[in-house]
Amino acid sequence: MKITRREALRLGLLGGSFLLLPLGNQKPAWAQTRLSPQIQRFELSFHKPPVLEPVRRDATTDYYELTMEKSLVEILPGLMTEIWGYKGKIPSIINGISPGPTIRQRGGKRSDGGRQSVVRFINQLGKDANGEDIQTVTHLHGMASLPQYDGHAEDLIPPGYFKDYIYPNDRAATIWYHDHAIDKTSRNVYMGLAGMYIVEDQYELSLPLPKGDYDVPLILQDKFFATDGELIFDDRNQRSSYGDVILVNGVPWPRMEVANRKYRFRALNASASRNYQLALSRDAQSLTIGDKLIVIGSDGGLLSEPVEITTPFQNLRIGMAERYEFIIDFSQYPLGTQLFLRNVGFSGSIDNDARTHAIMRFDVVREEPDDSIVPDRLRAVEPIPLSEVARTRTFRFERNQGQWKINNKTWDKNRVDANPGAGDVEIWNLVNPGSGWVHPVHIHLVDLQLLDRNGISPRPYEKGWKDVFHVGEFETLRVIAKFGTRDGKYIQGKFMMHCHNLVHEDHSMMTLFEVGKGGPSPFSAPAQPVSTMLPL
Ligand code: C2O
Ligand code: CU
Repeated sequence: MKITRREALRLGLLGGSFLLLPLGNQKPAWAQTRLSPQIQRFELSFHKPPVLEPVRRDATTDYYELTMEKSLVEILPGLMTEIWGYKGKIPSIINGISPGPTIRQRGGKRSDGGRQSVVRFINQLGKDANGEDIQTVTHLHGMASLPQYDGHAEDLIPPGYFKDYIYPNDRAATIWYHDHAIDKTSRNVYMGLAGMYIVEDQYELSLPLPKGDYDVPLILQDKFFATDGELIFDDRNQRSSYGDVILVNGVPWPRMEVANRKYRFRALNASASRNYQLALSRDAQSLTIGDKLIVIGSDGGLLSEPVEITTPFQNLRIGMAERYEFIIDFSQYPLGTQLFLRNVGFSGSIDNDARTHAIMRFDVVREEPDDSIVPDRLRAVEPIPLSEVARTRTFRFERNQGQWKINNKTWDKNRVDANPGAGDVEIWNLVNPGSGWVHPVHIHLVDLQLLDRNGISPRPYEKGWKDVFHVGEFETLRVIAKFGTRDGKYIQGKFMMHCHNLVHEDHSMMTLFEVGKGGPSPFSAPAQPVSTMLPL
C-alpha cells in the first residue's frame, strides 16, 4: 500500500519519535550499513523478570536491597554481552540481571493494608570504558516520592556508595525504576539500569482480572549489538538512540507459550528513543482482522473502563516510558494458533527496519479453565474539575542550536521554571512547535489527565491517569493536575519535568518545577559510602 506522509499524519500512523524522512529518501548511511547479528526471531523462550523478595518486613514497611553491577549474560545465542544490571534477593539468581527484578508491592491506603517500602540501591558499577566512575541515580517513575527520594538527576550515587529510597506506594499502578543520572541516563538505562515495580492495592486485588501466572510484565526495549555481542550505545550525535533488536524482558523477539484463556499484560516502553504502535495479528508480516488488545490500564493505574484495540484499523501507541496494561483473550483461538504482537510502523522513516515491526509471538499450546473476568467498570477516574484551575502554563519543547530545550532553556539545577502552590490545580500546555521529532513529556510527582491534543479529545485509552504524554509534531497538549497532594497529604519541593526520549533529556530537555515553598531539598538524603552500611 502506498501512502503519503500527509495521509499517514491524518490517519495517525506517525507515532514515531524517529526522524521522519521524506518518502523516496534513502535511509541514512548508518542505518544501511550497521546491523546487529541476525538471529532468528520468535525462537527464544519468553522470560518473566523474577520477583524480588524483601530482606525484611516490619509492621508498616517492606525493605528491599538491589546491587547494581556489571555482568556478562547471553542475550544473543552463543554470544556474551556485558550489561549493567541488578542483583538482589531472588531465589536461584546470583548475577546481575536486566531488566532488574520486579518489585511487587502491596500499596494503597494505610487503612486498607497499604505498606511503605524502602529500597536500598548499592552502586558497584565501577568505571566505564573511558575510566570514568559510573555514577547513578534511581528514580521510581510513577511514584509520588519526596524530593530527596525522587531520584533528582544530580543526587548521584557514586560507585562504592548506596542510598535508601523511601516509597509511599499510595496507589496501585505499573511503574518502573530506572537510572536518572545527569547527562548519562540514556547510556545507563540502555546498558540495563531499569526494572518494573508493581503496586497493588485492596481494590485492584478484589477485581476478577487475571492474576498470578497470568499477570505478565512486557518490558520493551531496542538494542544494537556488535558482531561479538557487545552492546553499542550510539546516540547519533545527541539526537536519538535506536537498536534493531527488539527485546521483551531482555529476550530478543521471544516466543511465549500460553493457555487458551485471558492474560493481563503490563507493557512498559523502556526504550531510549523508540515508540511502538502495538497491534495483535495472526500474521508476522501483515495485519489480520479482528484480533484484539483490551486496554485496561495506563501509567497511573486502571482506566475507568476497558478500551478495545482491534486489528487492523486501531493500534495502541506506547511512547517512551509510557505504560499500558491490556488483556489478550486467547480462548478465541484454537490450540496451535500463533499470534504476533506487532509494531505497526510507517515506511519512509528510519523506524522502517522490517525486523522491528514484530515484537513477540504467542503460541496457544494448552487448554486451561479461566475464571477471570474483565469488568465493564474498572476503577472510576474522576475528572479534575476545570472550575478549580488556578492557572495555566505553557512549555515549548524544541531543538535549537544543537540542543534540546524547554521554553528555550536547557537544564540548570538552580533554576525553577514553575511554582504551583501545594494543592493547586493547573493546566499545562505542552507544545511541540515543529516537525521531525516527537517528545514524550514526563512530569514527576503528579498523576495527570490529558484534556485534549490540538483541541481534539484524546484517544480513549489515554483518558486515564498518566504521567507521560506523547507530544507529536505540531501538537499542543493540555494536561491537568492537582499539584503536591496525594492521598490527602501535601508534598512540597522541587521535581523534574523532561522529555523521556532519554537522549533529549540528557542534552538537555529537562527542567524543575517546585510545589509550594520550603519543601525538603532533593539533596537532603545523600548517598553514603558502602563502608558505613548497616543491614536494613
Ligand atoms: Cu522515567 Cu524523570 O523519568
Ligand atoms: Cu524529546
